[in-house]
Amino acid sequence: MGLMKVLAINGSPHKDEGNTAMILGPFLEGMKEEGCDVEVLFVKDLDIKPCNADMSCWFANPGTCYQLDDMQMVLPKIKEADVIVWASPVYYSGMTGPLKILMDRQVPLSMLRNRAKKQKMVLVSTCSAWELSMFDPLIVQMKALYGNPEEGYEFAGALLRPMADSMREMIKAGETAMVDRVFLAAKKAGSQLAKEGRISEEVSQQVSRELMPRDAYYKAMELALDQMKKAVGKSP
Ligand SMILES: Cc1cc2nc3c(=O)[nH]c(=O)nc-3n(C[C@H](O)[C@H](O)[C@H](O)COP(=O)(O)O)c2cc1C
Repeated sequence: MGLMKVLAINGSPHKDEGNTAMILGPFLEGMKEEGCDVEVLFVKDLDIKPCNADMSCWFANPGTCYQLDDMQMVLPKIKEADVIVWASPVYYSGMTGPLKILMDRQVPLSMLRNRAKKQKMVLVSTCSAWELSMFDPLIVQMKALYGNPEEGYEFAGALLRPMADSMREMIKAGETAMVDRVFLAAKKAGSQLAKEGRISEEVSQQVSRELMPRDAYYKAMELALDQMKKAVGKSP
């Protein structure tokens, strides 16, 4: 494949310090190594107001939104990208609010899009729960939005990391081998997407791999929460 323009939009308020970035980072690295042109936007850094839904961008001024904020800069980037990576932690079973606001503000694009240009869409998400099913609503949303090739989109795969909060804990405890394998798989997914145009089921599963049994995970979470509460109680 030729040089691909990749736009990653990370909706985590933790930006580059968060769990989502721990997966997104190596994924994008894998694409860069294959020569892709990669740009990351953090929604937290952007001033993007909610859609007012008066549809002036369809009728009065087709393709133009009168709200003068950072969406003016984001829309051309979305339009030009060959790959868009939607990255978000799971918040109440969905993406974060600010990322959804950005998504909604794409309405003017539907007047401007060239449907002959194929765009690949990828989801990168992390959550606290042990269960992979925590991502089901996001996957359904991605498929509903980007699952129809006639619209010019292709849903090229998802990197889903449940038990995400344990990655940092495991690294702190020196149990790096398992977590490193997750990061390696995320990187492989990036090079796979760049070279083959999609992420294989096998590599996706490696990113989502079980880090510990369910009971042990929830017990460790409970202990960690107790410790955090105690630590807060002690602070002046
Ligand atoms: C407001 C809020 C809502 C959340 N909702 C969920 C949820 O519904 N399910 C879940 O498993 N984790 C939930 N989480 C946990 C985050 O998804 C998880 O910690 C994630 O890895 C954070 O990623 P980040 O560090 O990139 O922001 C929630 C966290 C917050 C702050």
